[in-house]
Amino acid sequence: MLKLAVLVSGGGTNLQAIIDAIDNGSITNAKIEVVISNNKNAYALERAKQHGIEALCISPKDYEERAEFNQAFLEKLNSYGVDLVVLAGFLVVIPEMMIKQYRNRIINIHPSLIPSFCGTGYYGLKVHEGALARGVKVTGATVHFVDEGTDTGPIILQKPVMIEQGDTPEVLQRRVMEQAEWKILPEAIDLIANGKVEVVDGKAVIKK
Ligand code: GAR
Repeated sequence: MLKLAVLVSGGGTNLQAIIDAIDNGSITNAKIEVVISNNKNAYALERAKQHGIEALCISPKDYEERAEFNQAFLEKLNSYGVDLVVLAGFLVVIPEMMIKQYRNRIINIHPSLIPSFCGTGYYGLKVHEGALARGVKVTGATVHFVDEGTDTGPIILQKPVMIEQGDTPEVLQRRVMEQAEWKILPEAIDLIANGKVEVVDGKAVIKK
């Protein structure tokens, strides 16, 4: 059974998609051990508690030095002994020592087709604002492993979503979530939980 930590900062609709997929059996061999937020008011924490999942907050704001926070964050995560860390709308930079310890064991959902509209400054609605400003006709979502760069790790799954005339960033954000994020994030977890994802030469390969 793959033990998961899900890291969140906001509403937690991707967390909900994972909880639902475990409940309805579309994710097998996985269990959420803990949900961690940097924001004590994140609705995602409520969603976890409603499902009897342990939920806690750890914020850089409560530490004088970033290094102190990074240490405490890593110790807290390690105390749960998880196999996979899922960033589901988590807006804090992952400390390098955590990336090293959890090499190819941290995944992130990003609301665009990487390498478009990703990297520093592209998160949440800003991604969709960028896509609409550029006038692209297709966007989507990506699940990838986390490495030392921002949105640069091996890509596991991607799903395209059409842009429609008159889209606002909010409308597009919702469509990308419904049509792509809430599908590929649970799917990626199920693949990993069932030993079907391997990283070879820096690229994620799905075993048939
Ligand atoms: C999602 O759209 C996720 O892809 C995005 O934040 C949102 C969180 O929503 N993540 C990023 O932009 C990461 N760079 P949620 O809290 O409802 O799951």
